[in-house]
Amino acid sequence: MAGKKKRGPSPEIKVRLTRCRRQIKSCGASALLLYNHVDCFYLTGFTGDESAVLVTAKDVHIISDGRFEGEVAKEVPWATTWMRRGMLNDEIVKACKSLKIKNLAIQPGHCSVGDHAELKGKLKGVRLIPAPPIVASMRIIKSASELAALRKAIKIAEDAFRATRQTIRIGQTETEMAARLEYEMKRRGASAPAFSTICAEGANGAIPHAVPGTRKVRKGSSILFDWGARVGRYNSDLTRMVFFGSIPQKIEEIYGVVLKAQIAATKAIRPGVRMCDVDAVARKIVGDAGFGERFTHGLGHGLGLEVHEGPSLSWRSKEKLAPGMVVTVEPGIYLPRIGGVRIEDDVLVTKTGHRVLTSFNKTLRSAVI
Ligand code: GLY
Ligand code: MN
Repeated sequence: MAGKKKRGPSPEIKVRLTRCRRQIKSCGASALLLYNHVDCFYLTGFTGDESAVLVTAKDVHIISDGRFEGEVAKEVPWATTWMRRGMLNDEIVKACKSLKIKNLAIQPGHCSVGDHAELKGKLKGVRLIPAPPIVASMRIIKSASELAALRKAIKIAEDAFRATRQTIRIGQTETEMAARLEYEMKRRGASAPAFSTICAEGANGAIPHAVPGTRKVRKGSSILFDWGARVGRYNSDLTRMVFFGSIPQKIEEIYGVVLKAQIAATKAIRPGVRMCDVDAVARKIVGDAGFGERFTHGLGHGLGLEVHEGPSLSWRSKEKLAPGMVVTVEPGIYLPRIGGVRIEDDVLVTKTGHRVLTSFNKTLRSAVI
């Protein structure tokens, strides 16, 4: 059932919708259908998931269900709502027919083959237009309010890590340390960890996305922490090493290389520089030290409403950095059966260069507890 409500969107949402509508028009469509709930939130402020948003030239339509009645009323009272009793796609079809939409832009990255077939079958005479990533590309450049949210998420993550470091003792498992860090973030205001906290002791540090397990802290342990806080829906993402008492010799060697690469790549960040060229700065330092094969992932990624979003700071991307982007810089060296080192900061591209948003100490000495 459709119901129309009043009270307009915030100025920031209005600007986003205007920019979005311009792009809907330029891909030859009269409306855009969004299934991706992060994009839906960015464009409307509606937090419900398993819903859809339909943006037309004049209106925004939220297609949702009874579970999100409260959110719809509170967050998007200005939108037209379609509260389904049946299936989501059937309600979308109903809305499109009632609005007489003829050219519908869809998100190819988020509309499944099944959804596409269903819409195509039920919306006879409607052209489904695979749109470029309209909302994802808007999300790459952060506004002042988004930056404020990111800074909060970073502060909470860093304060929580400081507190957690003080509680590390011989005999603790990776799982216990990761749980402690997540607890410390939540008690400081995080709604959730930004992702499942990585805590990898010893040889587990050689697995870039190690899952915390039963390995225990011992004298001379090298422990990799990769963590972040989700605060007000924005995420932080950091990686730091902790050395318990002393540093294994090989790990000390690669720490120096990774830190040098991380600092040099960060220095290269400024508007107009290609992503692949920043990646190359770090990769050359790691390669020259003889560990090129063991730096097995890209240098970094965009950060915001999602932990991994555009832009991709990697050798694959010829795109250029621009003011307002926030990226992680996280080179790593992973030595199977020995261990690994990764150091990660969150960096804002400014008009003239960059600003490192994270501030947790990363010198070798400071990593020893
Ligand atoms: N912090 C996890 C990652 O960037 O993949
Ligand atoms: Mn990361």
